[in-house]
This record gives sequence, C-alpha cells and structure tokens, in this order.
Amino acid sequence: MSAGIFDRTPQDVEPIETAYRRISTQIPAPGTDNLLAILDHNESRSMHGQMPIVWDRAHDFSVYDRAGNRWIDFTSSIFVANTGHGNRAVKNAVRAVLDKGLMHSYAYASEIRASYLERLVEFAPAPVEKAMLFSSGTEAVEAAFKLMRMQGQKLGKERFGIICLEGNYHGRTMAAQMLGGGDDQRTWMGTQDPDVHRFPFPFTWDLGNKSGAAYFNDSILSLKEVGIDPKKHLCGLLLEGYQGWNAAFYPTDYVVAAQQWCRENDVLLAFDEIQSGFGRTGKKFCFEHYNVEPDLICCGKGMGSGVALSGVLGRAEIMDLPDIGNMSSTNSANPMACAAGLATIKEIERLNLIDESMRKGRILRRELMKLQSESGGRISRFSSRGLVAALIFNDEACGGSAAGFADKVCLRALESGLLVVRTGRESIKIGPPLTIADEALEEGLDVLGRAIADVAWGA
Ligand SMILES: Cc1ncc(COP(=O)(O)O)c(C=O)c1O
Repeated sequence: MSAGIFDRTPQDVEPIETAYRRISTQIPAPGTDNLLAILDHNESRSMHGQMPIVWDRAHDFSVYDRAGNRWIDFTSSIFVANTGHGNRAVKNAVRAVLDKGLMHSYAYASEIRASYLERLVEFAPAPVEKAMLFSSGTEAVEAAFKLMRMQGQKLGKERFGIICLEGNYHGRTMAAQMLGGGDDQRTWMGTQDPDVHRFPFPFTWDLGNKSGAAYFNDSILSLKEVGIDPKKHLCGLLLEGYQGWNAAFYPTDYVVAAQQWCRENDVLLAFDEIQSGFGRTGKKFCFEHYNVEPDLICCGKGMGSGVALSGVLGRAEIMDLPDIGNMSSTNSANPMACAAGLATIKEIERLNLIDESMRKGRILRRELMKLQSESGGRISRFSSRGLVAALIFNDEACGGSAAGFADKVCLRALESGLLVVRTGRESIKIGPPLTIADEALEEGLDVLGRAIADVAWGA
C-alpha cells in the first residue's frame, strides 16, 4: 500500500459487535470495489484517495455502510457534522423550507435569511456587525481577501499586500490557494502574486529562546528589509485558527503581537475559522483562545451542519465596502442553507456544545497522552484543543515512512470500526461530532491505540 492508495481487496477481519461498532463483513465490504470503480471511471481522480468505505447513512457520531457495518466517526465528515450527523433539528428546519418549495430565492429577501443573519451576528463575538454568505469555505476566503484589499484601496495604500503563513490551508480557488498550502500547490498559477507574503509558522520548537511576539517581529523585520513599508504596502494578515494538517496552535503572544501590529499599521486581521469555528476547539471560535478580536472571520464547514454554507463576518464599515450587489452569488444565502445555519446555532446552544467540546476535549487529551507514551516513540507529538487533535508520527520510529505508517493505522482503525481523518501526511487527525457520547469517545480512542499497536508490532 502506498500513501493515498488503499488495497481494495476484501480482507477477513475479526467480527466486532459493541454498543457503538459493528463489523460483520470483510473489509472493504463486498461491493465497495465496484462502486469505487464507477467513480474512478467517471470522476476526476482529484477527488479520490480516501479509505475504501462506502457511506450509506449516518446518525449522530455513527456512520453505516449498506452491509450494516457501523463505525464510530472521528471525522465529522471533515469537521462538518459538529452538531451530529443528520441532526434532527437541522433536518426538520431544512424540511420545513423544502415543504414550502423554497429551494432557491437568489438574492431576493426571505424570512429565513433575515432570521438567520440576525441570529448569526448575535452569535458571533463583538465587534462583528454584519455577515455575507456563500456556499464553500474557499469562497469565504476569496471574499476576505477582496475585502482586505478593498480596505487597503480605501485607505490609499500604494500596494495591496496580504500576509499569510506557510503551511496553512485556506481552500482551492485562486486567492485561497495563493494564501495557503505548499509551493507545489501553486505552480499551476504560473505567475505568483508579488503582494502575497509568507511568514514561517511559529512552531514552538522553532522559537528557540524567543517569545512568540519576538518571532512575529522578526518576520516583520524581514519584510522591511526587502523594502516593504507596512503602512503603505500591506492591507491584510490572514491566520488559520490552527494549522490544519497537524492541528498546530499559535503561541498566544504571537497572535496578540500580530493584532497590535495590525492596528498600528492599518492592516486588517482576518481569521480563517472554517475548520476551527462553531465549537470545534471548545470555544465558539478558535481566536478566542488567543484573546484577540479579528476584523474578519471566515466560516464554513460546521456552520451549516452539512448543508453547503459559508460566510464572512466583520464590522459594518468593512463588510459594506463592496457596492450594492457586488458580492452576491447565485447560491449565497440559499433558504435551505439559512435554515440549516439557524438550526445549527440553536442546536449548539441547546446542547451546550461549546462547553461539551471543551469537557470532552479533556478526555481526548488524557487518552492521547497515554497513546503517545505507549507508542514506543512512534508518536513524536500530538496537539489538541476541544474536540480536535492531531497525532504526528516520527519517520525513523515508523520504519522510514511516517505517512505510510499513518495510512496503515487509518486502515487498521477502519477494519476495527473507527473512522479517523487521513491527512496523506505524517499525521492522523481526530475530530468527532461534538455530540459524541463519552463512552464512544473512549472506545474509539482505545480502538485507535490498538490500531497503532497492531501496525507497530503486528496484529
Ligand atoms: C481552514 C480551512 N480553510 C478553508 C477550507 C476550504 O473550505 P472548502 O473546502 O469548503 O472550500 C478548509 C477546508 O478544508 C479549511 O480547513
């Protein structure tokens, strides 16, 4: 098995029947290969590379295939199902809109859109005053990019520089990809934007004796050395809530220094909370961990509980920079999406999911510490806050390929009734629905520990 390509031959595996998991067929389940072959034949391979499982239905923190196998879901379908898969209140809210035949209403007003926006702005921390809605995370980032540059223009800046951080991820459209990913992800663009500047990510082990604030200031100095004057040449700084693939958080003083510098230089601070928002880290938004108030917040994923919904939030003076009609899009503020978004906020509040994420995050952290200590050095580190975590594997301890090792662990977990997030790199990510039962969380972590041991020392 090479990284990214899983063997599809059904294998005999131990049958499992617990309160939360059921494995009663070979894995991949019979029929999986046929379905994957149809996708291989008809769909761009750019969507492929996931583990060999066919999702048939999902409920709360469980995912089922057609054969009746049942997995504990540690993925939330890539950090989307924060309120639980198929959340009843969200389904009912969408159904009510469908029953009225209101599947679309373009940019005409609707009652559900007004109710949702009122509640969304209320839900977001001050100084948020307005929002604009889209369908995908990458669109929200594009919009933030545009707003930052429009603000620079309004202030009469000579250039429209945007700072982003190496290794962060913001999506796959032009500006979003320009602001994120590695160099290899940007070659298709040809010409690179000379007004996009990349700072190194402040990993704790790279700081040495420096504070986070000093590390940030060093990056600013390096820009000044190449003739960039922040007051004249820069208009935005974009930070992902935490760096995605390894769930790396910033030192608080790095972000605080960044905010102060932004204010002193008329530069907007934007946070990409597409993955980290809506309770994932035990706060409504991840930036609350750093005690800052960004000018712009990009949201998506968990915002709509599975219905395509994203948006940007901010102060009225920034959000109203585009002229009337200039940021609308066909599927923005779709009535079904607004209904799902409104029900999502109500469910987060009714089920107390922000505090629950924080509380369950303590269980997660405690168990991950055990996993690391029992891994024989294979887990070099882990990072977690609330209900997101990443385990980072060590190349040498994993026989030369930590990414290959991580893939094998993902597959072993799949065979054992647990779905984890495959990153295709030397990490595995964990992000269960915030509604997960404590016992299911503990059972899933136990399965993960055994999967790591099986791959390390043989089943
Ligand atoms: C932090 C972050 N930003 C942006 C995106 C892009 O969102 P989408 O895939 O909805 O375009 C993602 C998706 O993984 C993300 O994690």
